[in-house]
Amino acid sequence: MTDKVVVHLIAAARPNFMKVAPLYHALMANDNFDVRLVHTGQHYDANMSQAFFDDLGLPQPHHYLEVGSGTHAEQTGKVMMRYEETAMKERPDWTVVVGDVNSTAAVAMVCAKLLIPVAHLEAGLRSGDRSMPEEINRLVTDTIADLLWTPSPDADENLLKEGVAPARIELVGNIMIDSYELMRERIEATDTAVQLGVAGERFGVVTLHRPANVDARDSLELLTNQLLKASEQLKLVFPVHPRTRKSLENHGLLDSLLSSSRIHLAEPLSYIEFMSLVRGAVLAVTDSGGIQEETTYLDIPCLTLRPNTERPITVTQGSNRLIKPVELLDNIQTVLAGEWPASQCPDLWDGRTAQRCVESLEKYLNAASAA
Ligand code: UD1
Repeated sequence: MTDKVVVHLIAAARPNFMKVAPLYHALMANDNFDVRLVHTGQHYDANMSQAFFDDLGLPQPHHYLEVGSGTHAEQTGKVMMRYEETAMKERPDWTVVVGDVNSTAAVAMVCAKLLIPVAHLEAGLRSGDRSMPEEINRLVTDTIADLLWTPSPDADENLLKEGVAPARIELVGNIMIDSYELMRERIEATDTAVQLGVAGERFGVVTLHRPANVDARDSLELLTNQLLKASEQLKLVFPVHPRTRKSLENHGLLDSLLSSSRIHLAEPLSYIEFMSLVRGAVLAVTDSGGIQEETTYLDIPCLTLRPNTERPITVTQGSNRLIKPVELLDNIQTVLAGEWPASQCPDLWDGRTAQRCVESLEKYLNAASAA
């Protein structure tokens, strides 16, 4: 039996894999920890999951829970039932959850009831919009996690306002920047624009997957029409999330995009391919959380098609702006005219966040053993 501290690291959906990877590598490099990767299976398509494991040097998970898709309750419930079984068998000393997907909150709830301490990486972010499933997941997870690792001071302020004890909060910085730095050489050696046949042209990169944007016909149709108009100004490359592809098909909107010569639709890309594309883009149009941060780091104009953001620092310091679909064309023109404000990189977005998490965990363990 090992004397090491056994840590379960939970990965579930595409944006989790990037966050888990630097922490996995940093914990593995420390002799005090024995890390077990748990994949809940929320994302399961090869290009939504395995491609990320391959890119990020993650091993096959120690536990694969195979929950798949479903309604929120089905997905959350399945993760709880399956992770409870795993956690009861293996009794980790700590469990680390990341981000704000359904699996994040589900695992945190299981741990809280089994008295397994939980750390939440990317804690404290708040959009203030409880109609977003992620906001509910953030609130639930932060209420019950023992250790809250935050990316920026606004997150600390949110938690303090909610009455969280300062001792539970640790500002560690943005883990997504660690992922980028971990892969920088390979990203810079890749040219996705060439692979996709758009080399030598100026282009914008588009991603859309938020239910509020893509599920209902009205909003999706409006966005599709705006993208078609915008593409007359700037060629667009659009890797399509499976949720969005299904909705485009169901609402009969896919063909208009497919028939445009100015919009290049692609399958979801791996992490390295996608970051190579963003690096080469004139701007990003997105409703993703992570891309708001990555573009701030890379100083690429980001037009976020949402009424709010849980990452306000990307607007106050970074290159991100929240826009309505009808404002897309004007904003693209501002970028093309070279009038977009430059980004300032927030503090602690420096590629050393995973190391700070490991130090924080060690500090917590030492304090607990001294008590
Ligand atoms: C989830 C997260 C969201 C995150 C996003 C990134 C929640 C509530 N949402 O949204 O915060 O930004 O991941 O991608 O946790 N599907 C596939 N193959 C897959 C995965 C999903 O085809 O590998 C399709 C299925 O039709 C599924 C739908 O996408 O029903 C939605 O998947 P789901 O995991 O429920 O949510 P996402 O929209 O991916």
